[in-house]
Amino acid sequence: MATPLIAGNWKMHMTINQAASLVLKIRDAIKGVHDVEVVVAPPFTALHHINYLLAETPIQLCGQDVFWEKNGAYTGELSPEMLKDVGCHYVIIGHSERRQHFHETDENVNKKLLASLKEGLKPILCVGESLEQRESGKAISIIRKQVAEGLKNVSHGHMKDVVVAYEPIWAIGTGKTAKPEQAEDIHNGIRELLYDMFNLEAVKETRLIYGGSVKANNIDDIMAQPNIDGVLVGGASLSAEEFARIVRFEKT
Ligand code: PGA
Repeated sequence: MATPLIAGNWKMHMTINQAASLVLKIRDAIKGVHDVEVVVAPPFTALHHINYLLAETPIQLCGQDVFWEKNGAYTGELSPEMLKDVGCHYVIIGHSERRQHFHETDENVNKKLLASLKEGLKPILCVGESLEQRESGKAISIIRKQVAEGLKNVSHGHMKDVVVAYEPIWAIGTGKTAKPEQAEDIHNGIRELLYDMFNLEAVKETRLIYGGSVKANNIDDIMAQPNIDGVLVGGASLSAEEFARIVRFEKT
């Protein structure tokens, strides 16, 4: 089984000083934890300083977004190479907040993902349905479309570096978590699609993680599901104590 991945998405929170203090507390609180990959995604402004602070630790850095071009006249954007340069190993792509507020399409998401893989950055591809889509029974078809289009033209050899994060929009920042069985159900659907798109060998290490109101008090039930290989944590990753408890989930 692939190593579980616990990622904290700090979104648009934290000045450089606040970010430094949080990451040092997280570092101390997760000392001695093995067999779990821990990733944090601070805002871009704090990446350089946090990279320096994390130098001797196993915690890895992640960007919250990226642009697909290598360089050029794209005011405000950052390339995969720039994220690598500042110490990132991972990058979140297609988060529902970017799809919603910045009109990202599956096509944009796919370009970002391919450009990141080319540069050696591991993409965390976010997919998820709205409440309306879930209630009208369309959840799985929406997610299959997002995954299929997001992973278009990805080579078999790159799939071990791809993470897919299932984040139902109605569960993000709302305190409503998908029932672990609901998440497991969607993860099974994604896994089947990956088997259709790629060969078994290519996707056996592809991790499927869950996001949406993950907290210290529900992590154990979520991680007990066989097809959930980790979590993407928003709000709860801003507290070192809470995030550390999530990293130290009970293994069943
Ligand atoms: P949340 O956010 O944990 O605050 O619900 C999750 C996410 O957006 O990745």
